[in-house]
Amino acid sequence: MKIISVVGARPNFMKIAPFIRAIERHNAQVSEPDAKVKHLLVHTGQHYDHQMSQTFFDALNIPSPDIHLGVGSGTHAEQVGNTMIAFEKVVMEQRPDWVVVVGDVNATLACSVTAKKQHVKCCHIEAGLRSGDWTMPEEINRLVTDRLSDLLLTPDKLSIENLKKEGAEDSRIDFVGNIMIDTLEEQREKAAALKIEEVLLNNLLLEGTKLPKFQEGQYAVMTLHRPSNVDHKEIFTPLVDFLTNEVSAEMPLFWPIHPRARKQLETFKLWDQVVETPNVVLLRPIGYHDMLRLNIGARLFLTDSGGLQEECTVLGTPCLTLRWNTERPITLWEHGGASVLVGNNVERIRQEYRNTLARKRKPVRPELWDGKTAGRCLEAIIKHS
Ligand code: UD1
Repeated sequence: MKIISVVGARPNFMKIAPFIRAIERHNAQVSEPDAKVKHLLVHTGQHYDHQMSQTFFDALNIPSPDIHLGVGSGTHAEQVGNTMIAFEKVVMEQRPDWVVVVGDVNATLACSVTAKKQHVKCCHIEAGLRSGDWTMPEEINRLVTDRLSDLLLTPDKLSIENLKKEGAEDSRIDFVGNIMIDTLEEQREKAAALKIEEVLLNNLLLEGTKLPKFQEGQYAVMTLHRPSNVDHKEIFTPLVDFLTNEVSAEMPLFWPIHPRARKQLETFKLWDQVVETPNVVLLRPIGYHDMLRLNIGARLFLTDSGGLQEECTVLGTPCLTLRWNTERPITLWEHGGASVLVGNNVERIRQEYRNTLARKRKPVRPELWDGKTAGRCLEAIIKHS
């Protein structure tokens, strides 16, 4: 059997790493050549900065991509279109039995569509997540990918319900758990051994930044990258005011900054305000272990990232999710998780910020988030072949 798996952007890398290891384990166990899985890794190149891509290959021991499409940045249509054009050639040349896509980025959409148009079976790992918000590019990517995929591997049971409501047949759906947690479990010991101060000093965005005094368990970490938060001045400005005037007045705030957020701070002339707040430490986009280390020791996380919501749930870090909806309801407080949806309205954020500070760290482990999902994914593919 021949599998092509696809990565494009940062959140894909921690999902594909354990899948590749599961293939290696399988190949080491079977003796007949026909039972071995031939695997090719394709990187579309949506994320290309060293810190957004190569760092994760190194840290997670992901083999170099066999094929790099070099698509780069652009509008959604440019990214998806260019990926399809380049990936079609790969599929025609390689004729895999399966294309495996993960998550909900533009690579996921482009490569699932291309695979199906070439009559190649497609497997979607992390199927069935729905925010219900069709203005999010990721939601469009999820809907199309799931409609087309032959095999839908879900991280939780709520996702199975979503798929069934849309008419997906039971025979296409398998509940395998959350593959990202495989990576978390594999790497948490290594991350926990890092010193927070070194993580910060190694990743300072601005040379010469003086670190504020901080203690384990007594700082906040923030990440923001969604267009809905950072692309509008009237939304981003009050958020930045809240962070610089209120959060950082109570505790140090560590902020690894996504290229899009950085660009928008400059465009909206908020850059100086952030840089001049002594308790705010701006960091470059940071590597996997560094982020995990900061998360393990944080009193509070503020984020609009879905993956971090999930990691906070397993680590128990109280998390304010700066979105109005989530495709990952299992991470919410009301479902036993660590995260609260606060949108981008400062009144609401302030209120939940206070509530969250009163909460204790409470790790939880949703069903099958057990570090063994990748093996179940490969088994499911073999079973459906
Ligand atoms: C993408 C994913 C999003 C994911 C996020 C994680 C889609 C639709 N979105 O959004 O789901 O949560 O990745 O980061 O696929 N840029 C760089 N260097 C890079 C990559 C991007 O500077 O290596 C800059 C470019 O100016 C680019 C902007 O960041 O225009 C946004 O990048 P893009 O890949 O379009 O989307 P993300 O916001 O990163």
